Amino acid sequence: MAALLEIKDLQKTFKVKSFFGATTEVHALNGVSLAIGKGESLGIVGESGCGKSTLANLLIRLDEPTVGGIFLDGQNISHAKEKDLRKLRSRIQIVFQDPYSSLSPRMTVEQILTEPMRVAGDKEPKEMRKTAIDLLELVGMRESSLSRYPHEFSGGQRQRLSIARALTTEPEILILDEPTSALDVSVQAQVLNILTDLQKKLNLTYLFISHNLAVVKYISDRTAVMYR
Ligand SMILES: Nc1ncnc2c1ncn2[C@@H]1O[C@H](COP(=O)(O)OP(=O)(O)OP(=O)(O)O)[C@@H](O)[C@H]1O
Ligand SMILES: [Mg+2]
Repeated sequence: MAALLEIKDLQKTFKVKSFFGATTEVHALNGVSLAIGKGESLGIVGESGCGKSTLANLLIRLDEPTVGGIFLDGQNISHAKEKDLRKLRSRIQIVFQDPYSSLSPRMTVEQILTEPMRVAGDKEPKEMRKTAIDLLELVGMRESSLSRYPHEFSGGQRQRLSIARALTTEPEILILDEPTSALDVSVQAQVLNILTDLQKKLNLTYLFISHNLAVVKYISDRTAVMYR
C-alpha cells in the first residue's frame, strides 16, 4: 500500500545566536524517516527535547526542513509555496498540547468553528452554523456552547473544542502533539476515547505524539520511538 504521508531523512537545524553574537547550530531533528498509511494511527514517543514538536511543525509546514523530504500522496511538500500551503493545511491539521494556542480568547465557539469556512467562502451562514453544531456533536458537546467563550470551559472541553476546530477543514491527517498531556488522567481517557471514535467515523489518519508510552499504545496501531 502506498503511504499517505511519508517522511524521508528529515533534518532540522536551528541557528541560535548567543548573547555575544556567536552563532551555534542546534540539531533539533536528525534524519527521521517514517511512513503512514491512510486510516492508520502511528504513535511517536520520545523524551523531552528529542524533536517531536519540531517534526510536527515541519509536517504542517509551519517551518521548512533543512534536509529531507515530506511526501503527501507521493508529492514532495517540503518546500511548497504559500498558495499550495493553504490547500495543504486543510488536509493536514494539528492539535496542540495547550488548547489556548488554537482557541482565540475573544472569539465565541461559533466564531472559532466557522472562521475557516468563512475564509474558504463557499458556505452560507446558516450552513456554517449547522456544520459548527455537527462538529460540536462529534466531540460530545452541546449546541448551547456556540455562544460561549473558551475560558468558560474546562480543560478537557477546551481540548475537545480544539479537536473540533481542527476538523473544520475536513482534514485527512491529524497531527496530535501531546493532546492529552495537560489534562487530568480521567479527562485524558475521555479525550482519547473521542479521538478513537472520530478516527473510525471519519477514517482519519493520526500521528500521535507523546512522552507517555501507555497513552501512545492505547491509541496507535504502531509506535515509533525517537531518540535524541
Ligand atoms: N525555534 C527554535 N530555535 C532554536 N532551537 C529550537 C527551536 N525549536 C526547538 N529547538 C530545539 O530543538 C530541540 C527539540 O525541540 P522540540 O520542541 O521539538 O522537542 P520535543 O520533543 O517536542 O520536546 P517536549 O517533549 O518537551 O515537547 C530542543 O533542543 C529545542 O531546544
Ligand atoms: Mg513538544
